[in-house]
Amino acid sequence: MRAVLIESEGAAPRLVEDADESLLTGDVELDVLTSSMNYKDALALAGKGIARSHPLIPGIDLVGRVTDSADERFSAGDLVVLTGDGIGESRHGGFATRARVRPDALVRLPVDLSPERAAAIGTAGFTAMLSVLRLEDAGLTPDDGDVLVTGASGGAGSIAVALLAGRGHRVLASTGRVEENGEYLRELGAAEVLDRRELSEEPGRPLQSQRFAAAIDAVGSTTLANVLAQTVRGGTVAAFGLAQGPDLPTTVLPFILRGVTLAGVDSVECPLPLRERAWDALSRELDVDLLDAMTTSIGLSEVIDHAPSVLAGQVRGRTVVEVAQ
Ligand SMILES: NC(=O)c1ccc[n+]([C@@H]2O[C@H](COP(=O)([O-])OP(=O)(O)OC[C@H]3O[C@@H](n4cnc5c(N)ncnc54)[C@H](OP(=O)(O)O)[C@@H]3O)[C@@H](O)[C@H]2O)c1
Repeated sequence: MRAVLIESEGAAPRLVEDADESLLTGDVELDVLTSSMNYKDALALAGKGIARSHPLIPGIDLVGRVTDSADERFSAGDLVVLTGDGIGESRHGGFATRARVRPDALVRLPVDLSPERAAAIGTAGFTAMLSVLRLEDAGLTPDDGDVLVTGASGGAGSIAVALLAGRGHRVLASTGRVEENGEYLRELGAAEVLDRRELSEEPGRPLQSQRFAAAIDAVGSTTLANVLAQTVRGGTVAAFGLAQGPDLPTTVLPFILRGVTLAGVDSVECPLPLRERAWDALSRELDVDLLDAMTTSIGLSEVIDHAPSVLAGQVRGRTVVEVAQ
């Protein structure tokens, strides 16, 4: 088995060509076909607090073909996708050619979705869809007005822009890279591209003029505080990320004077029925041409060197990891 391995706490990750398969435990055994690089993977590779057991194969996403299963839901030959559920954190993950996983969060790949595109979606796209579902389950319709996406050039942000626009919403995309990525975000479906400094620099008053019918936030911190302050009465903000920071310098005023809802999105521990709902919706709705346009590929041997550019916010869209390369 070829694998990226973090052998002990604080150790630098390395690519091992003949890693020991007896490391792996879990009822479903797989050939890994593809994985992907997420912000969290970059943190794990940089030794920044994600890896919670050692040795660890990082990689919070994997798409694979079942080779053997002790769980009756799966049999040899099935194509499956697994995101989160502790892989790449406390269980071995997708940066390897082989995996054994528990079946609890394992989803059969929708028939129309190739392994490469499923990995391109990965945790980022899955989280984007969970966020869209949160807003629409709260009653949001395209007639309600503008929907903001922050961290829009990132993996989850890019897919959120495409999904919301595909569902007919008027999307405002906030980015720190207006010049570089403005055209890209418009091609994904953004009606307007905002400079993130409007939202990120100073925490403004807790109630500001009401601009957003709803929002999907990848960023947290001052940005999320300002988003809440500019969300319309009764609007919902789905928050899943902390790219700016984990703090939230706000007050209760948006909640108690405007009835704004802050809806947290956790993709890691998501229950199986919601996972299946989200993957089904992704396979039907996400425009594959847009997905392909936002995706680049790297080999397993490039994963370690790629991580710093993710942490520096220099990467756009999604990065698939071809584990055989
Ligand atoms: N809750 C969950 O289950 C879950 C799931 C997936 C991801 N996440 C979290 O969500 C965030 C985004 O994940 P991702 O995979 O999409 O990451 P990503 O591809 O690295 O994108 C992050 C984006 O955030 C923006 N950003 C970076 N630094 C920023 C700063 N200082 N201030 C404001 N914006 C900043 C950048 O967008 P622009 O260049 O466009 O400004 C960047 O492209 C991460 O914090 C990740 O850990 C959480």
